[in-house]
Amino acid sequence: MINPLLETKNINHFYGKEQALKNVSIKIDKGEFIAITGESGSGKTTLLSIISTLLKASNGEVYFQNKNFLQIENLDEFRQRNVGFIFQFHYLINYLDVLENITISSINKDENKVDELLKTLDITNLKNRYPDEISGGQKQRVAIARALINSPKVIFADEPTGNLDSKNSKNVFELFKNLSQNGTTVIVATHDKELAKMADRIIEIKDGEAYHG
Ligand SMILES: Nc1ncnc2c1ncn2[C@@H]1O[C@H](COP(=O)(O)OP(=O)(O)O)[C@@H](O)[C@H]1O
Ligand SMILES: [Mg+2]
Repeated sequence: MINPLLETKNINHFYGKEQALKNVSIKIDKGEFIAITGESGSGKTTLLSIISTLLKASNGEVYFQNKNFLQIENLDEFRQRNVGFIFQFHYLINYLDVLENITISSINKDENKVDELLKTLDITNLKNRYPDEISGGQKQRVAIARALINSPKVIFADEPTGNLDSKNSKNVFELFKNLSQNGTTVIVATHDKELAKMADRIIEIKDGEAYHG
């Protein structure tokens, strides 16, 4: 990997005295679909938060397209332009309908783009419904559409299928696979080893240390 999209060098992270990450050095290429696996408490969320700019590592370096995170002047702008987030809980706004939830933070309101996204995620007929009028799997697909609205270079998803049944979980991972095949880098933290096998590559975290193949 000559020019990785994302790279960490010897990251350590401490919460007080507890060390959550130990010397983590990873490289992720553009368009890769990566699963970060490991048991509960192993450090997946901590690592994902650090490589997605949400959390600053206690020490070590993180690079995005060879630029040190510390040199990014405007983090909000950086995130809006490059990054999409998906979490276990969908965080949809109950007072807004599906369409409004998806477009709430879109940079340019391109209607074709929105229609295309709705179609890809099979939620076109839900666009005027409210979150409490759709199923859990549908809510997560809306959250994914929201994460994709600005065509981010990287999608970070932390246990995105934690609240879904196995069929919907598999659908979400299939969608991630398609996204990565179209050039979007997808990085998913999951404790589900079966689902993780659908990724191109697995980075396993054990007691804060990363092992990868
Ligand atoms: N905000 C926090 N304050 C203190 N300890 C934390 C905090 N977040 C995580 N930890 C600890 O760091 C370790 C790794 O947690 P985490 O990254 O959430 O793991 P995972 O996502 O794999 O379950 C755990 O021992 C956890 O208790
Ligand atoms: Mg976690």
